[in-house]
Amino acid sequence: MADIKELIRIAFDARKYSYTPYSHFRVGAALLASDGKIYQGCNIENASYGAANCAERTAFFKAISEGVREFDSIAIVGGPEDATEFEYCQPCGICRQVMAEFCDLDHFRIILARSTEDYQEFLLRDLLPHAFLPEQLDSASRK
Ligand code: THU
Repeated sequence: MADIKELIRIAFDARKYSYTPYSHFRVGAALLASDGKIYQGCNIENASYGAANCAERTAFFKAISEGVREFDSIAIVGGPEDATEFEYCQPCGICRQVMAEFCDLDHFRIILARSTEDYQEFLLRDLLPHAFLPEQLDSASRK
């Protein structure tokens, strides 16, 4: 199982592939699945700005599209493209919602890193309290 520093290093590696000609803000993510596999993601922007995809969702969708749906943690790093020092990069609301679809609120760990030595760790519930979850559709027509 990868340790936190290794996951952060892999997130920084993913950030190199960001496609950010509009924001020039590059984000990398490393998603650790429960089976030990790691999925990298970067943000991918578009001339139609709303079509951009965040690094976290890129990593999740790569894993899910390969049949993997159980996850342990994600490391996230981000900052301006010319940054040499980093602030903590918070996952956006849409990415938090995607995490909540597939991850246990009280077990999935979100690691926000400025470097391999300087990071904060949260549970998904900390970052998405009062989440709207799939169970809430059960009273409607969801099968
Ligand atoms: N972005 C991410 O990839 N993840 C985050 O957690 C926050 C924002 C991207 C989206 C967009 O390409 C750029 O950062 C600026 O918002």
